Amino acid sequence: MKLSYGLAGLAATLAAVPTALAWGGAGHEIVATIAQIYLHPSALSNVCDILYPGSAALGHWPPCYISRVASWADQIKRSPQYRYTAAMHYVGAVGDHPCETCLFPGADGWAGKRDINVLGAVRNMTDVLVGYTDGSFDRDIAEDAVKFLIHYMGDMHMPLHLTGRERGGNGARVAFDGRATNLHSLWDSLLIAKSLRTISSNYTRRFPHDSTSVDVEAHLRDTIYDPYVRRVMWEGMGVGSVPGRFAVETIEEWLTCPEPAPEGRWDQGVLGAVQTTLGLRAARDEERWDDEVLCPFAWSKTLHGLNCELVWPAALDRPPYNQSAFGARGDEHDHESPDDFFARPRRPHPDLLELDTPEYAGKIYQEWVIERLMATAGIRLAGLLNGLFMDVESLGNECDLPVVYV
Ligand SMILES: *[C@@H]1O[C@H](CO)[C@@H](O)[C@H](O)[C@H]1NC(C)=O
Ligand SMILES: *[C@@H]1O[C@H](CO)[C@@H](O)[C@H](O)[C@H]1NC(C)=O
Ligand SMILES: *[C@@H]1O[C@H](CO)[C@@H](O)[C@H](O)[C@H]1NC(C)=O
Repeated sequence: MKLSYGLAGLAATLAAVPTALAWGGAGHEIVATIAQIYLHPSALSNVCDILYPGSAALGHWPPCYISRVASWADQIKRSPQYRYTAAMHYVGAVGDHPCETCLFPGADGWAGKRDINVLGAVRNMTDVLVGYTDGSFDRDIAEDAVKFLIHYMGDMHMPLHLTGRERGGNGARVAFDGRATNLHSLWDSLLIAKSLRTISSNYTRRFPHDSTSVDVEAHLRDTIYDPYVRRVMWEGMGVGSVPGRFAVETIEEWLTCPEPAPEGRWDQGVLGAVQTTLGLRAARDEERWDDEVLCPFAWSKTLHGLNCELVWPAALDRPPYNQSAFGARGDEHDHESPDDFFARPRRPHPDLLELDTPEYAGKIYQEWVIERLMATAGIRLAGLLNGLFMDVESLGNECDLPVVYV
């Protein structure tokens, strides 16, 4: 299979970027593709018109593929114009130490400047787009905001983008399938790449589509990860004849935000007592990012918990692996593509914890952890974009996907 990322249109911005990054973007593009499948047609047309002015009038369906811009925020983050955005891809909970503690915010709050993180950025980009729909911002401002939002919603659903430990796992060296890597790369791309290498061949074919099911194929553009999207849609979202793993109630829950906590309530419970004793800022302060339809803080608090539940192996804090993990510089293969990674010969790495094991990778695959994260991100992105850009007058003639039309 060939990589087909439609790089031509992006060639100018990509000139200085190694093509290997195209792979690191697969997770982001999968999230965007799932979102697009669930966008109301009017919302998709409006989003496409922001990204590619005039595209909706051309009469093609779909008018664009939003996955094409899903990795843009990574590609520009080192350019002078956008360097200020580099810190908006993650949030570091300072003093959290998965898998021993998963305080969120960390015991010492957040790394970096207030609001310059993925949670504040999701909120801000949404506010900018609300401003655009009110006529207070021009299209080019909205274009950046849409591209950032598509990307940051993906980042926010990658648990390692939510922990301050060892630069989100970039400094945690591990082995995978007999090759050295780090925990962050493993979750960014290698686990997805390995799924694709072993995915059932029935997903390399086009999806059967009838008028009662969601049209998945229209939104695929012949990429290396199409089979992954088909599998998530078929086995996860249940667009085929078999019920999916994710019940409609589950999907609705992904879109739900908690009721704002009444004054004082947060301070109850063990965690509240500990934090009050330590004189720490209440989590309520972080709720400024949240409202009743978009709640990056509440959502990411749950996602961050995965770092303790399964992302950070306890063995990394015990001999012999605590030696290599701490203070290690990034792996020398930091920017290689998954294809190059799997092409490297396997060799023994006695100093590194191997994670391609039934207990680690096997469990992640079996429990559909990454598929679920990407489906959640895609549905939330769709809900948000529908809420922002769906033509209200077109409502009422829809029955296929009511749950995402928030
Ligand atoms: C969000 O906007 C506010 C006010 O406009 C600003 O102070 C803050 O730095 C912004 N945060 C991000 C993450 O862009
Ligand atoms: C594809 O194959 C897998 C396992 O071989 C099976 O569980 C799944 O239902 C199949 N999906 C379709 C769409 O046929
Ligand atoms: C690794 O853990 C052992 C046992 O807890 C400890 O004695 C040792 O100092 C740790 N090594 C490092 C580098 O932290």
